[in-house]
Amino acid sequence: MPIKPPIYWNTTAEIFILDQRKLPRKEQYLACRSLRQVVNAIKKLAIRGAPAIGLAIAVGVALEAQKIEVDDVQVFVKKFEKMCKNASEARPTAVNLIWAIERMRAVIIENPGADVDRLKKNLWKMAEKIRDENIELDMAIGRHGQDLVKDGMNVLTYCNTGTLATGGCGTALGIIRTAWKRGKRIHVYVCETRPLLQGSRLTAWELLNDNVPMTLVTDNSVGYLMETKKIDIVIVGADRIATNGDTANKVGTYTLAVLAKENGIPFYVAAPLSTFDPAIKKGSNIPIEVRDDKEVTHLNGKKIAPVGVRAYNPAFDVTPGKYIWGIVTENGIAKKPLGRSLKRLLTRTR
Ligand code: MRU
Repeated sequence: MPIKPPIYWNTTAEIFILDQRKLPRKEQYLACRSLRQVVNAIKKLAIRGAPAIGLAIAVGVALEAQKIEVDDVQVFVKKFEKMCKNASEARPTAVNLIWAIERMRAVIIENPGADVDRLKKNLWKMAEKIRDENIELDMAIGRHGQDLVKDGMNVLTYCNTGTLATGGCGTALGIIRTAWKRGKRIHVYVCETRPLLQGSRLTAWELLNDNVPMTLVTDNSVGYLMETKKIDIVIVGADRIATNGDTANKVGTYTLAVLAKENGIPFYVAAPLSTFDPAIKKGSNIPIEVRDDKEVTHLNGKKIAPVGVRAYNPAFDVTPGKYIWGIVTENGIAKKPLGRSLKRLLTRTR
């Protein structure tokens, strides 16, 4: 059975977001009729994963634009720009959010003579294009990356990079899915991914649904697994990639990369080129989201840490490019030196 889409719509007045906080217990969609509701869903992680965040913000902006009731294009553009500025603050690390907003802004900039009705239609079309592209890009990433996964391999993955995170077959998970569909007998170790358990709740759910052999492990067991030769390859996703190849992804990814290097295990990142940020030269410049203490001190809404204990909860970390064997994109695999190779891939067509 295919996984339900993380976001869908039937009209331009309402969009539905699968509430990933409730998965796998409940498959419940949130109905959103405003950009504010979409931004809130992103902030609260009802929808998450870099490409899905980009898609959600694009359609959220298109939705809100439909509600601007003016005939004057200049007034429309002013309101639209204000809306985009507010939307860009939903989450700071995944660059796909800013990338998607820029694509929506480009619709206005590239249609200087269009009236308000035409702009509204084109904005909606652009959101639909981003949705369709996510599906195609994931398939291309899967095709390029599946060669890295050999028959009989044990693959380790982190967080959730599947349908729930992109709307397509996924990035790192798309590679795993493609290898499995091509008949390779693989097995996947899924890290829980504390504190919000995107691995045990979401990735395990997606792999189980596809009947891919899988074992759930705690994040802190990875050193032991690697040292005892249980892992052949690590494939993870990305939220933002600097021009030198340094990569921000779910906190804990850096730990996996260092351990992989120490144990001589290939470590790959999979991401669409929209996750590449040409304005950021090195990883230390990537903004890292710090989330609520409660995500650490509480579990399922219940306090587990003693009263008065404070927590520090960075949601992402940066893996220096030197630990990354390659970055699988829709245009091919960027190899070392990552910076130069990524630049070449950006201009290549599939
Ligand atoms: O906080 P999240 O769940 O949005 O973090 C998601 C990740 O870190 C993913 O690995 C990344 O966005 C890639 S999704 C294809």
